[in-house]
Amino acid sequence: MTEAKATEQREIAIEALLAEDRTFPPPPEFAAQADIQSNEIYERAAADLEGFWAEEAAKLEWFTPWETVLEWKPPYAKWFLGGELNVSVNCLDRHVAAGKGDKVAYYWEGEPGDRAAITYAELLTEVQKCANALKELGVGRGDRVAIYMPMILELPIAMLACTRIGAPHTVVFGGFSAESLADRINDSQAKLVITADGGYRRGKPSPLKPNVDAALSLSTTVERVLVARRTGEPVAMVNGRDVWWDEIVPGQDARCEPERMQSEDMLFLLYTSGTTAKPKGILHTTGGYLTGVATTHRSIFDIKDEDVFWCAADLGWVTGHSYILYGPLTNGTTGVMYEGTPDYPDPSRWWDIVERYQVTILYTAPTAIRAHMKWGPHHAARHDLSSLRLLGTVGEPINPEAWIWYQQQIGGGRCPIVDTWWQTETGMALLTPLPGITTTKPGSATKPFPGVDADIFDNDGNAVPLGEGGYLVLKKPWPAMLRGIYNDPERYERTYWSRFPGVYFPGDGARRDADGDYWLMGRVDDVMNVSGHRLSTTEIESALVSDDRVAEAAVVGRPDDLTGEAIFAFVIAKSGIETSPALGEELRQHCAAKIGPIARPKTVMFTPDLPKTRSGKIMRRLLRDIATGRELGDTTTLADAGVVEQIRDASRAGKDDE
Ligand code: WTA
Repeated sequence: MTEAKATEQREIAIEALLAEDRTFPPPPEFAAQADIQSNEIYERAAADLEGFWAEEAAKLEWFTPWETVLEWKPPYAKWFLGGELNVSVNCLDRHVAAGKGDKVAYYWEGEPGDRAAITYAELLTEVQKCANALKELGVGRGDRVAIYMPMILELPIAMLACTRIGAPHTVVFGGFSAESLADRINDSQAKLVITADGGYRRGKPSPLKPNVDAALSLSTTVERVLVARRTGEPVAMVNGRDVWWDEIVPGQDARCEPERMQSEDMLFLLYTSGTTAKPKGILHTTGGYLTGVATTHRSIFDIKDEDVFWCAADLGWVTGHSYILYGPLTNGTTGVMYEGTPDYPDPSRWWDIVERYQVTILYTAPTAIRAHMKWGPHHAARHDLSSLRLLGTVGEPINPEAWIWYQQQIGGGRCPIVDTWWQTETGMALLTPLPGITTTKPGSATKPFPGVDADIFDNDGNAVPLGEGGYLVLKKPWPAMLRGIYNDPERYERTYWSRFPGVYFPGDGARRDADGDYWLMGRVDDVMNVSGHRLSTTEIESALVSDDRVAEAAVVGRPDDLTGEAIFAFVIAKSGIETSPALGEELRQHCAAKIGPIARPKTVMFTPDLPKTRSGKIMRRLLRDIATGRELGDTTTLADAGVVEQIRDASRAGKDDE
């Protein structure tokens, strides 16, 4: 396209090219038993947003009722002002008082194969003992506590103990380095760290405590360290600072009065990486957050009393906070926690767990589904997965092939799939099907949750017509939204509220189809500009993966003299597939045929690995560097040793930020 021609037209924010027309109405048997069976909920929430959320909040237990449902002074929202509550009471005491103390809160499985189950009554006792231990160690209301642990039961106990005494936690994923831990401790000015000697990963003990020691040599705010015993590996303890969990927690009084927290008191900080190196401390508060996660958990997953819900994430991510811990426990649900990697001792581990605990709902990430696809369907086929009735995904756009595979190989064709779009910042899922009423489409997160006012804007802040792509925005507050970036209001306003004043901009591209269903198109920072066309990475990756010889793909833009940017595709072939320039050429043509000639990658490079963040997101910035730094003659390049090494190093280092 010539420049003159490009400016003639209205500037298109992101072009929508991929068409996916398979639709899946809710299976009649599922729809018939679903809690939400009518679209009326959308109208009700739209007509009276505050009334809708107040009705949901009233399902929680409050010490003091709120006076004001919502105070909205953009960009700051406050929910349920004047209300007082305690999160641990809502997660535990309430269910025990209602006679559900013997219900299992978590089935837990360690990587080596050790198992435990903890009931609501037992969890309440452990939480109160731990809360009393925290008090003994000098933690009081408002003090921040950093938690750096493997997926053992002491982790949810520690988080809930913090909520009992009103001490905000900041959980740092156990895979992060000492330096990342130190950054987060320093930014949050944590007074105490809760950790463990280590955890099990890939069949081996993986130490954590040494990282805490290294982090604390860089930190000044931490006074005490509480250490749970998991691996039994030798650990250095600093006298007067470090104390073993099993030496201080078990002897505590099993009763601890819950702190009466204000609805807008800080519940936790969770750090998320941004475009610059310094992570952002995303601030969440109490009453609105708990209302948002409990409501979405119950409605999106159609929760019944007898469900066994497995959110196969780590508690160190927001997905774990909202849908392993706070949402499910508020709803009195039985959950599953698994410590280790999905392919230990072999890739059937997850399916073994589903069968053993009769899991009814499984919630995971597309990256995990693609890993299972790569390992092959025979692992799942060896197990009885008939207990499953609903599946969910979160974390990145799911390519239609992975969606279909999940639906057929794991869900046996009978389970609806809820593709939930949300962020650390949003606290709760915002774009999602409701499984009893929504017709799903592979790759679409479908509709805004009731009461959520989403839209898609062009560069100038105008809503784009159906069918077009642009910037996803949220135009009204929701209860679980972030209340800011800790100690950095300027960055909060600049990052989320400056692109379109008064409107929340999450940083994602999206399009809406003719039915008004949303299709996420990746981070707008990753959009490629090819000959004046703004193309989404997601669509081209989906096209590549739809060839059944491809296991995974990542595309980035590479500067190009002729077209501005050219599409560079990194491709992992399925095991047993021989890669060749001819296959690369076929894949290029496949993209052209599926999407259009503009989407034909200029270069296809085969690689055995892709660099990912710890939460499984592809590190495109690194791939862009690799793509840009290469002398590339022909259009298809087989993995060269240098590239593979670079990618491997990055994968191993597991860089913290994107
Ligand atoms: C992406 C995870 C497409 C998106 C809960 C978002 C998704 C970022 C989806 C937040 C989805 C999450 N479809 N993209 N269903 N879910 N994303 O903070 O780019 O780890 O902005 O929160 O993941 O990632 P975060």
